[in-house]
Amino acid sequence: MSAVLIFVSGSRDTGSAQAQQPPIVIKFSHVVSADTPKGKGAERFKELAEQATRGRVRVEVYPNSTLYKDKEELEALQLGAVQMLAPSLAKFGPLGVKEFEVFDLPYIFPSKEVLYRVTEGPIGRELFKKLEPKGITGLAYWDNGFKLMSANRPLHNPADFRGLKMRIQSSKVLDAQMRALGASPQVLAFSEVYQALQTGVVDGTENPPSNLYTQKMHEVQKHVTLSDHGYLGYAVIVNKKFWDGLPSDIRRALEGAMKEATRYANAIALQENEAALAAVQKTGKTTIYRLSDQQKAEWRQALLPVQQQMESRIGRDLIAAVNREAAAVAAK
Ligand code: LMR
Repeated sequence: MSAVLIFVSGSRDTGSAQAQQPPIVIKFSHVVSADTPKGKGAERFKELAEQATRGRVRVEVYPNSTLYKDKEELEALQLGAVQMLAPSLAKFGPLGVKEFEVFDLPYIFPSKEVLYRVTEGPIGRELFKKLEPKGITGLAYWDNGFKLMSANRPLHNPADFRGLKMRIQSSKVLDAQMRALGASPQVLAFSEVYQALQTGVVDGTENPPSNLYTQKMHEVQKHVTLSDHGYLGYAVIVNKKFWDGLPSDIRRALEGAMKEATRYANAIALQENEAALAAVQKTGKTTIYRLSDQQKAEWRQALLPVQQQMESRIGRDLIAAVNREAAAVAAK
């Protein structure tokens, strides 16, 4: 007997078919506490992405290096073992995309306004294009803030850094920055910083207040200087093959969720850092020092030459382009 196939057009119940499909899983790994601008941004993206795709996507957020720590996470992303990250902009040099280290240059951003002109304009878009050949798609830039310096001795003048072992992220610009101060830089994964400070493997470090506080570094650093000498922010990135392979309606919904999560993450960054600094002050465990104008001038004199020193690595034109954005804001 021949099989009789009955096609009733238009009746295929796609709803139940979709309901039967397992959700698309996005593993979002990062290295900071959930209670930070990046941590809260990741959670907000999860909420918005699952809402926008009506559950067809599930975002699993792994904070505080619980899934991968610094160096591992980029390797995992390229292998597709994790789908989304938000590494510090200081951590793309080892990938071979050293232009991102422009964000690490001392005093390159006189204000957040200049920073946003870079990240939301052609410079930010051009930098993301450099990730594509590495199998990575850049989705957004998330803010954290300007960095302080910390150690177990007062850091008032550049000379105070002489002989100190200072932890840095994996950035040649930050290496040059610490050497310009007479310190010796040491790259360590973010998850290892507290113990390295506690045991004296390193004497000091730099980060925005939100990272210092949430990693309890103030418990093992007697002195903090609010230098604002440099900036720390993030690139939210995905595995390119995964992203390009998504159904277009899902990708569009995720782009919308990321746009809203970015607006949120950037809106809370300043207040999160101010709250963290106030919390550090309240513990009384560390002395917080504000530089005098004279001291600020001395720090700038010691650190500004790093911009020229790094032209061959980052690109003279790129540095000049960022400085033009600063000049445009200053001219307003
Ligand atoms: C650091 O390693 O100091 C920071 O990049 C950590 C982070 O992601 O904010």
